[in-house]
Amino acid sequence: MLLVKLGGSVLTDKARLRTPRKTAILRLTKELAGLGDDLIVVHGAGSFGHVLARRYRLNGVASPSKAKGAAIVQRDVRALDDLVVGGLLKAGLAPVALPPSAILSLDDGRLASFEVSPFEDYVRQGFTPVTFGDVVRDRTRGVAVCSGDVLMLEIAKAFRPRCVVFAADVDGLFTSDPKKRGDARLLLSVAEADLPLIDFGPAKGPDVTGGIEAKVRRMLEIASHADECIIVNGNVKNRVRDALRGRIVVGTRVVGGH
Ligand code: IPE
Repeated sequence: MLLVKLGGSVLTDKARLRTPRKTAILRLTKELAGLGDDLIVVHGAGSFGHVLARRYRLNGVASPSKAKGAAIVQRDVRALDDLVVGGLLKAGLAPVALPPSAILSLDDGRLASFEVSPFEDYVRQGFTPVTFGDVVRDRTRGVAVCSGDVLMLEIAKAFRPRCVVFAADVDGLFTSDPKKRGDARLLLSVAEADLPLIDFGPAKGPDVTGGIEAKVRRMLEIASHADECIIVNGNVKNRVRDALRGRIVVGTRVVGGH
């Protein structure tokens, strides 16, 4: 089993509402065909999710007014998912969309329930399940935002993938923000013990799912359920493909406590 997360910053222009990067979507989905193993695809929401999720306060306390905003963002993330599914179809795979809004629930932002059997059943039939960051039911908050990373963890637990790849818009994890600091160094690997050495900086931008540090912590947990886990640059042609094929590529190996 191979598991990949296509980050929202690669698939979309994260600063401009509902703006897909169509060329990147087509290239990346093509890279996912012909890998010779079962595959599950998770993708982020980028500007199809974060901008309005923040505007409608979808991670906030329960209120009747959240439903309308949630419905809009659910529609938007499915529109992005349609582009990903379309690309995978064109690449020759048999993708099936499994929206978290239907198969997962949270309780105060933490996982409450997750239906794994649709993934198992479709994989067995030769499909490529595709799921994504979404707005889902939350027992405390009514609805809440669920990052694709939460799906990554649950899928990794259930399938114990041979290889997990995170496609980011930079080469991997750096000692500080490479977009701001010229002296930022790419880490070849990251383990829990390295976290205090990394300058994550203040959370910035419209990201409603916790910023880089929360993502890295979850990646470490995901890595503990996989043989290999690596963060690579999804903007570099064939890097995601090569990483999934087990080739040595530029990136940051995530080393979980197995
Ligand atoms: C975010 O999902 C979901 C919504 C904002 C609705 P992710 O956390 O997986 O998305 P990216 O990768 O940061 O864009």
